[in-house]
Amino acid sequence: MAQATKSGYIFLLDRETGQPLFPVEERPVPASDLKGEVAALTQPIPTKPLPFARQQIDSSDLTNLTPEEHEYALAVWRKSKKGIPFIPPTEEGTILFPGFDGAAEWGGSAFDQETGLLYVNSNEMPWILQMLPYQAMTDDSPLAIGRNLYQTQCMNCHGKDLKGGAYQQAPSLVGVTNRYPDKTLTQLIKNGKGVMPSFRYLSDQELEALAAFLKENKPISDTKTTTNTTQNHQESWTYPYVMAGYKRFKTPQGHPAIKPPWGTLNAVNLNTGEIVWKIPLGEYPDLSAKGIKATGSENYGGPVVTASGLLFIAATLDEKFRVFHKATGELLWETTLPAAGYATPATYAIDGKQYVVIAAGGGKLGTKSGDSYVAFALK
Ligand code: HEC
Repeated sequence: MAQATKSGYIFLLDRETGQPLFPVEERPVPASDLKGEVAALTQPIPTKPLPFARQQIDSSDLTNLTPEEHEYALAVWRKSKKGIPFIPPTEEGTILFPGFDGAAEWGGSAFDQETGLLYVNSNEMPWILQMLPYQAMTDDSPLAIGRNLYQTQCMNCHGKDLKGGAYQQAPSLVGVTNRYPDKTLTQLIKNGKGVMPSFRYLSDQELEALAAFLKENKPISDTKTTTNTTQNHQESWTYPYVMAGYKRFKTPQGHPAIKPPWGTLNAVNLNTGEIVWKIPLGEYPDLSAKGIKATGSENYGGPVVTASGLLFIAATLDEKFRVFHKATGELLWETTLPAAGYATPATYAIDGKQYVVIAAGGGKLGTKSGDSYVAFALK
């Protein structure tokens, strides 16, 4: 059994006994300096296969696309915790690499029985994980309850300043109470919308409290009447930190703040543990227009391999669907989908003719949404 991880390793286990096929070492990892937080002392690291994503970055890996982007990246780098894998969350911000979304992603990998090669696509996007002190208010006015709920339930997407953008496309909530009359606002929060989850477990009183907080429209850091201690506070709210949001470490120009590759496709020999080939997967359209190609891009969705020697994959933010030679990684064909194919293709045959199909839903990483399945026939 092979399991590729978000940190870039492949665990190979005997499917009958669960025993690792290559030795797994428990390696020491850094302790947490958050109050009350105890991190594991070690993490299990397989000695083989070799990791399919970079494991460590230092300041020489920061982007040098332009002097401005480098300066920005360096400033963030200097004030963050960084450098080694498995740094726990911190108040100053931890540079998480490979990021929240892998190395490997939910798209899975493809295995070729004939050659023993496993194909796995990988992300190399640093993220910033920051914990903020939870400024719990201890009185039970609606405003205080709403503010506490906002910090624990909403802030990691809508941000400390209510201006949105802390997660994906979470919108600004500034002035939102003018856009939604009372009941429609609490209904929206209760039911969720699009990517926003529903909050059905909140009571009517809590929903009203959130509405009161949103109406007051004060960023978390600017409200004075707070206390950082949580002692007299309700049991369920005693954790002293809240998470600032899911932030990619990108430059203001929208590129990852480290040097490429930002996404790769890898062929790993599971018998020897060696990486047989590795290529950048995907391009940034604005950079390839300037001749900067082969950077790789963030990618979501896996590969499919055929007995005849082809490897199919979409996954990239350039909305391409690509076919590679499975033995060499040579690009054989590519086409542009109606929207990005953040999915794993499927292959099937009807009356002796083989097809490959991909869902082109897009709608992530700032790419347009779509609603088509695109099928290709193999001749
Ligand atoms: C996982 C991220 C996430 C969390 C957590 C979250 N939201 Fe949202 N929220 C979103 C997204 C994304 C949208 C946009 C939905 C859409 O229009 O498709 C949204 C939309 C909204 C809107 C409508 C804004 C408008 O102008 O249309 C309100 C109001 C709102 N959220 C309030 C809240 C409140 C209050 C909480 C906490 C109880 C919360 N959200 C938690 C992601 C989130």
